[in-house]
Amino acid sequence: MAAFAAFARTAAALAPRAAVVLGSGLGGAAAAFVERAAVPFGAVPGLVPPSVHGHGGTLAVGEWGGVPALLVRGRVHFYEGHPWEVVTGTVRTAAELGARRLVLTNAAGGINPALSPGALMAIRGHLKLLGPAAWRGLAAGDGSVRPYAARLIEVMRAHERAGGRELLAGLYAALTGPSYETPAEIRALAACGADAVGMSTALEAEAAAARGLEVAAISCVTNKAAGIGGTALDHAEVLTNAALAVDRLGALLGALIRAPY
Ligand code: HPA
Repeated sequence: MAAFAAFARTAAALAPRAAVVLGSGLGGAAAAFVERAAVPFGAVPGLVPPSVHGHGGTLAVGEWGGVPALLVRGRVHFYEGHPWEVVTGTVRTAAELGARRLVLTNAAGGINPALSPGALMAIRGHLKLLGPAAWRGLAAGDGSVRPYAARLIEVMRAHERAGGRELLAGLYAALTGPSYETPAEIRALAACGADAVGMSTALEAEAAAARGLEVAAISCVTNKAAGIGGTALDHAEVLTNAALAVDRLGALLGALIRAPY
C-alpha cells in the first residue's frame, strides 16, 4: 500500500492525460516513454499479478513525447479465471489517476486475408464473445456499444497514410480462450464480419467508455487465424511475431497520445 501511495502522489503531480495498455510481447512499443515511477500490479488495490508469460504486470507513470501518461505493461485476462471487475481493474485505476484517453493494444490473429503477421489494425468495433454465455453476445452484434472514438481512428489512419500505409479499421472478435480457435470457429467469426481475433480488449474498452474516457485500440497481428495460414498456432510464435510491428506501433501510439484532447 505504501508503494502505491508513493506512486499515486507522483502520478497526481504529473497529471497523466492518456493511459496505454501494452499487450502480449508489445512492451518494445514504449521506447518513447520516459518513466518517472512504477509499481507492480500486485501493489495496486484491486489488481492482481498476471500469470501468463510475456505479460509483465506493471503500472508506470511518466511522459510520452512530452505528454504525461500512464503505461500499463501487461494485463490479466478473463481466461486466467478473473471476473470482469478484475480484468478491467487497470482501466478503473487509470481513470482514477486522471487519464482521459485510453489506448489499448493487443496481439491478435488475422481473419481478414489482408492481415498478415506484422500488420496493425485499428479496432472500430468488437464482438464480445467472452464468458460462459459468450456466443449469445452475437445477438447484440457490435451495433449496441460503440466504445471506439471515431476521431482517434481518423488520427491513426492519417498517421499511417502519411507514412504511405493504409490502416484497416476492422472488427475485433474477443473470445474467452485460453486455447486458440478451431478453423471452423474462425469461419464462423469471418461470417460474422470479424477481421481479427484475440482474448482481450473488449471488456476494457467498454469499461473505459462507460467512465467517459476516449478509447482507441490497436490489434497487432501476430499470426493468421486458425485454418487461414495453414500452420499451427502457438504462444511462442505470437510473442516472436509481435516484435515485427513494435516500432510502427510505438509511432502510432505517439500520434494517439499527442492528438488534441
Ligand atoms: N487467436 C486468439 N488470440 C490470439 C491469436 C489468435 O489467433 N493470436 C494472438 N492472440
